[in-house]
Amino acid sequence: MAVIPIRTLPDPVLRQKAKKVPGVDPSIRKLIGNMIETMYEANGVGLAAPQVGVSLRIAVICMPEEEAEEIILINPEIIKKAGEREIEERCLSVPGYAGMIKRAVSVTVKARDINFKEIRIKADGLLAQALEHEIEHLQGVLYVDHLVSPDSLKKVTAADSENEFQPD
Ligand code: NI
Repeated sequence: MAVIPIRTLPDPVLRQKAKKVPGVDPSIRKLIGNMIETMYEANGVGLAAPQVGVSLRIAVICMPEEEAEEIILINPEIIKKAGEREIEERCLSVPGYAGMIKRAVSVTVKARDINFKEIRIKADGLLAQALEHEIEHLQGVLYVDHLVSPDSLKKVTAADSENEFQPD
């Protein structure tokens, strides 16, 4: 496995609509392994394939909890959303910034796992936020596109972000 450089704005790959994955082969497994390693290296909660320059509908998430397992999402889709809340968000592809956005309180996601088996995840809190954030990446959307107001975007230093939520 290898750590891959993370693409940042204005890299056009972040703006492409990612393609559906037709099935899992060794190259997809390798990509997912590299994405997980890259996510850990960057201390991110999640990472989407376009962030490593690959326009495919794949994302990985790992909650910042002890012994949390990685969640691998192939072709994920949000099938249900409920509630609304205002929260701060960051993104590894927008380094040095944080902004306020609206996210659902809970979401249900349909996806395929590493064996291409269909899975459903119902989540709230941080996991719901991460799922929405990563799935948006696959549509070419970043949180800075839907800030509650332009002036809610602020500069943050690496030290500020250490204990803060950073979806990816
Ligand atoms: Ni992101």
